[in-house]
Amino acid sequence: MSINAGLFDHFESLTFDDVLVVPGWSDVLPAEVDTTSSLGPLTLRVPLMSAAMDTVTEAPLAISLAREGGIGVLHRNLSVEEQAANVDRVKRAQSGMITAPISLSPTATLADAEELMAAHKISGVPICESSGRLVGILTNRDVRFCDESDMASLVTEFMTSEPLVTAPVGTTLEEAVAVLHKHRIEKLPLVDDDGLLRGLITVKDINKRVEKPNATLDEKGRLCVGAAVGVTDVAERAEALAAAGVDVLVIDTAHGHTSGVLEAVRTIKKGWPELPVIGGNVVTREGVDALADAGADMIKVGVGAGSICTTRIVAGAGMPQVSAIFECAQAAKEHRVEGGGALPIIADGGVVTSGDIVKAFVAGADAVMLGNALAGCDEAPGELELVDGAMWKTYRGMGSAGAMRGRAADRYGSAQKQGKHVAEGVEARVRYAGPLHELVNQLVGGLRSGMGYAGAGELDDLRYRTRLTRITGAGLRESHPHDVDVLRD
Ligand code: XMP
Repeated sequence: MSINAGLFDHFESLTFDDVLVVPGWSDVLPAEVDTTSSLGPLTLRVPLMSAAMDTVTEAPLAISLAREGGIGVLHRNLSVEEQAANVDRVKRAQSGMITAPISLSPTATLADAEELMAAHKISGVPICESSGRLVGILTNRDVRFCDESDMASLVTEFMTSEPLVTAPVGTTLEEAVAVLHKHRIEKLPLVDDDGLLRGLITVKDINKRVEKPNATLDEKGRLCVGAAVGVTDVAERAEALAAAGVDVLVIDTAHGHTSGVLEAVRTIKKGWPELPVIGGNVVTREGVDALADAGADMIKVGVGAGSICTTRIVAGAGMPQVSAIFECAQAAKEHRVEGGGALPIIADGGVVTSGDIVKAFVAGADAVMLGNALAGCDEAPGELELVDGAMWKTYRGMGSAGAMRGRAADRYGSAQKQGKHVAEGVEARVRYAGPLHELVNQLVGGLRSGMGYAGAGELDDLRYRTRLTRITGAGLRESHPHDVDVLRD
């Protein structure tokens, strides 16, 4: 029986502003708590996911969030090719070892090399014969003093070839650091016994690992990324996204307790059994059971809770989010994953403050998905707007009229079948919030602080040993600054 069972009865549902975390005996310091969350096949040191929305998650935000220890979910208001290209961009942003380095043939010109390096934002390129045999490497250093008149020359005239420092396949990152350091070079090609190029280790990638030790990385040291698929395009998108190296697929629907969504989960599990699937969105025990039985590896919870959602107004349907998380988390305990834990629950929608994040975990979440909270940061798509002396960024629901003119319409499937789209979201804007890493610092700082008040050294202590209390309107008023004129927020 959960410690909070008494709070959630059958007739009334609660959301973030209805509850507070009860401070408990504590001997943990916020700076020392562990925010790592194990989501079955995925481990996040910072349990934040970004929403699959076209004003939130494209490659730049996914890269930054994965570097901070969370994970981004790329939206699908893009063609399949564009979405897969976003996956590819994240996977190439950082590597332990680049396993398929971009290379050029010895017959390429300097102009070809400049164009390629600019397009892929790389500072050097190995030169390989058609067999794959490495013959040299062209880096910024080699072309520093070149001008327009050299552009038609062959890369072989400028590349470094004798001596060419290489290392054998299987070289560890530590060994690579020593070689790079010894030869004062920045790129180390890995070759096999036949001299064929098999990988590349760069100083830049090594530095990135040192700078961001919490980053969410795959087994090859690349950043992890998720991507959204719909019910109608599941097979086509899954195929392209899997080929691009996506780490987790998210069935992106407003109502996940439907035969279409269950079938989409089965399609992925059958075609790509190794690829984790997040099913959703649901808000009930029955919804969790159905998705779990279909094979979902994680469950996304929330209907109508999002800050830009109008589903509850338009359709009259939904469930206040803290009750939804609690009910789904209770159901998830009945579905064990490999290793013995409960099926992971992702709380999606309505999380705006760091305090909401703490409450979501106490209600039973394993990670939270954020739209509003991240939409104002530099890395989110869209330009800054100056309105009345303040900076803003556009943030819109994927069910808003504007977004549904793109490919997002089938998220709200029933309306589409009738040949018309009934908007279930608004187009809005949020305050500009600066770089993502500062925003994440604030959010995680709040989560750590909440863990300190609860006496929770790790997230399981929030989930299993921390009490929520219900508050009244007076309690909510008391929670916010009151009886003062706030000068600075
Ligand atoms: P927040 O509160 O972070 O919520 O802004 C983001 C989540 O809201 C969902 N979403 C929508 N729900 N109409 C809806 O009813 C919409 O137009 C819409 N767009 C996004 C989605 O689950 C997202 O992660």
